[in-house]
Amino acid sequence: MKIRYYSLCLFLLGLASCGGGSAPQTAAPKSPDEQMLAEGKGIGEIKSVELNSPLDAERVTRGKAIYDMKCAACHKLTDQKFVGPGWKDVTKRRKPEWIMNMVTNVEIMLDKDEEAQKLLQLCLTRMPNQNVSTGDARDVLEFMRSNDGEK
Ligand code: HEC
Repeated sequence: MKIRYYSLCLFLLGLASCGGGSAPQTAAPKSPDEQMLAEGKGIGEIKSVELNSPLDAERVTRGKAIYDMKCAACHKLTDQKFVGPGWKDVTKRRKPEWIMNMVTNVEIMLDKDEEAQKLLQLCLTRMPNQNVSTGDARDVLEFMRSNDGEK
């Protein structure tokens, strides 16, 4: 009787550990990356962003310069789509972490993040990696917040 009980346990253990195969198990705890994606923060180095109020004027100025140099060729500051989506209200549609990961980790974002993939389907161009540092991405975020009317 005891032996049968043990073998039943072993059998159940086996089911639990290898059941499912490639399909992710809903009950299993999420990996940190999956957690980030599920929270709408995207995927990449940026795990959390502190937003300051009022805006940091120096960052806004630097962010504008980066925009003019590296982003304006594809993004308008209105809601009008150009090569990529217009930036109006982007800071209201997206979490700051998502925006900064999109800017610093675009290839992986386009491969793994559903919202980024929806944009790709809409724009039909993959945003190129612009080699933007984390600090520069934070400056651009500040400029976007200013563009969205934050003070
Ligand atoms: C060659 C064109 C191009 C350039 C240059 C470019 N982008 Fe993009 N961007 C895109 C496209 C296209 C998308 C939509 C996603 C896709 O299709 O890859 C996008 C999407 C985005 C999004 C998401 C917008 C939303 O509505 O959620 C952000 C944020 C963004 N880009 C930031 C930047 C920043 C910051 C720069 C400059 C450092 C930049 N992009 C430069 C083409 C570009």
